[in-house]
Amino acid sequence: MSSDDRDTMPTDIRGYHRRTKHAPNRYAMGPGFLDWTSQPKAFRLFEGVTQTPLPLIDETPAFPGPAPQPAALDLRALGLFLELAFGISAWKSYDGSTWALRNNPSSGNLHPTESYVLLDAVAGLASGAALYHYAPLLHALEERAVYTTERVLPKGGFLLALSSVPWREAWKYGERAYRYCQLDAGHAIGAVAQAAAALGWRAQALAEPSDGEIAALIGLDRDDAWHRREPEHPDLLMWIATEPGPATPLDLFALIDAPREFRGQANRLSEDHDGWPIIDLAGQFCRKPRQPRPQAPPRAQWPAPSFEGVSIGAAVRKRRSAQKMDGTSSISREAFSALIASTLPSESTLLSAFPWGAAITLILFVHRVDGLEPGLYALQRDADVAARLRAASRQEFEWALVEQGGLPLYRLYAGSVEKEATKLACLQPISGKGCFSVAMIADFDRALADDGAFAYRRLHFEAGLIGQALYLWATAVGIAGTGIGCFFDDTVHELLGLPPGDTQFQDVYHFTVGAPVEDTRILTLPPYPDDRRERR
Ligand SMILES: Cc1cc2nc3c(=O)[nH]c(=O)nc-3n(C[C@H](O)[C@H](O)[C@H](O)COP(=O)(O)O)c2cc1C
Repeated sequence: MSSDDRDTMPTDIRGYHRRTKHAPNRYAMGPGFLDWTSQPKAFRLFEGVTQTPLPLIDETPAFPGPAPQPAALDLRALGLFLELAFGISAWKSYDGSTWALRNNPSSGNLHPTESYVLLDAVAGLASGAALYHYAPLLHALEERAVYTTERVLPKGGFLLALSSVPWREAWKYGERAYRYCQLDAGHAIGAVAQAAAALGWRAQALAEPSDGEIAALIGLDRDDAWHRREPEHPDLLMWIATEPGPATPLDLFALIDAPREFRGQANRLSEDHDGWPIIDLAGQFCRKPRQPRPQAPPRAQWPAPSFEGVSIGAAVRKRRSAQKMDGTSSISREAFSALIASTLPSESTLLSAFPWGAAITLILFVHRVDGLEPGLYALQRDADVAARLRAASRQEFEWALVEQGGLPLYRLYAGSVEKEATKLACLQPISGKGCFSVAMIADFDRALADDGAFAYRRLHFEAGLIGQALYLWATAVGIAGTGIGCFFDDTVHELLGLPPGDTQFQDVYHFTVGAPVEDTRILTLPPYPDDRRERR
């Protein structure tokens, strides 16, 4: 990064990206210290709205799903769906502090992502169509707007919108926080898709709607939606198909224009705020216009191994980020195959929710996988993207196809890569002490040229979704993962031999998988009062 990158504000999203790179001798700008008095509230709640508590259901089908029969869309099903997607997974307590963990992960556990659902009349919830905010703290729906009719949606599903409050992340991480919000939204897409599969439903992110349309649909363009120093940005709209068959076209404008009455006022999250104007700028650069539906991306079928005895509920609710890896355990080749296959574009539960083509190649730092030499590997997720990465990267790389159950895995070089993995992940030992770690290399220039600045968000969504697949499959095979948003961008590019200053390919996210060492000092408490749980 040149010295003047920090003296002037960026004029486009490339400038934001450059300026928020971490380097060993220079981290992206953040607060010098954490101002606990301005710590944002972890939970959005609306004052003056009707809250409907949702049922808590224990029973779920086998991981990864989908359940063979689609569940009827009722309060029970909604309760399970929203709990698995965004509910609390546990309360933790240590040394006088207590904090919640959630079924969806988040950078720094700061949870910028909010969710809203738009439903036709549902027995026990409302007699008319309505828009709701999901409140994970209460596991309840907050009625945000009511329509005057029973039905406003096409048959066979409902809408779910994701949004983020970047201030929650910026409070701790400063300028790089915008990237983390996008990665968290990508994880949330995966969390929604997995939750839908538990009910035999299918989640699909919609590529067409503009930010303006989503904001108008869920009321983010209103004064009562957020405090003026805590903007909430629309991320994405998803169609949750609760019945099989092709989706009926959706008329978003009709949903926005239909008569409805908004209710409530969003809570204020902080008493005081540091200004991070670059985050607002990044949001403006990346505002999404309405875009045509992309061609259905090519999706291969990869054999999905089954997991005897692992339910979707167990994989989702027991998922935890490892804070320390044991540095000795290895995983079987089968488990490794299952994990990396889960990240490939396919009809699988998670990846099928993503409407855009694959633009990310995985670079794997393999440390401890039975029967696989330690070394640097590449997992091709799109043949054209990987071929161009191969041409752009170090000529000495072998690109030797590895016999790995038909998976497109290539060895770049053999030898220990523990030190490199740790160093590149801002010196975090979890990256070198696990079984393997991953750098997600995006087809950066091409994506931005094809899709405009919104592609910056889309690439991070894809990376987050890959991370969510790794989290869930790692939990299902009995180990753990951790998302790694802190990495030295250009040091990774240097390792790959990508020319300095060139942005054809850019690293957007890291992830590590391994055997966790638990911190036994931390007390774990149940997510919700036990008497709310429905047992059969
Ligand atoms: C986008 C993203 C980036 C993250 N970056 C890091 C990281 O650099 N280092 C780390 O130890 N954990 C990282 N995490 C893990 C979070 O701190 C963790 O998800 C959060 O504390 C919640 O805990 P849980 O995942 O166990 O629910 C990251 C998670 C996400 C989703």
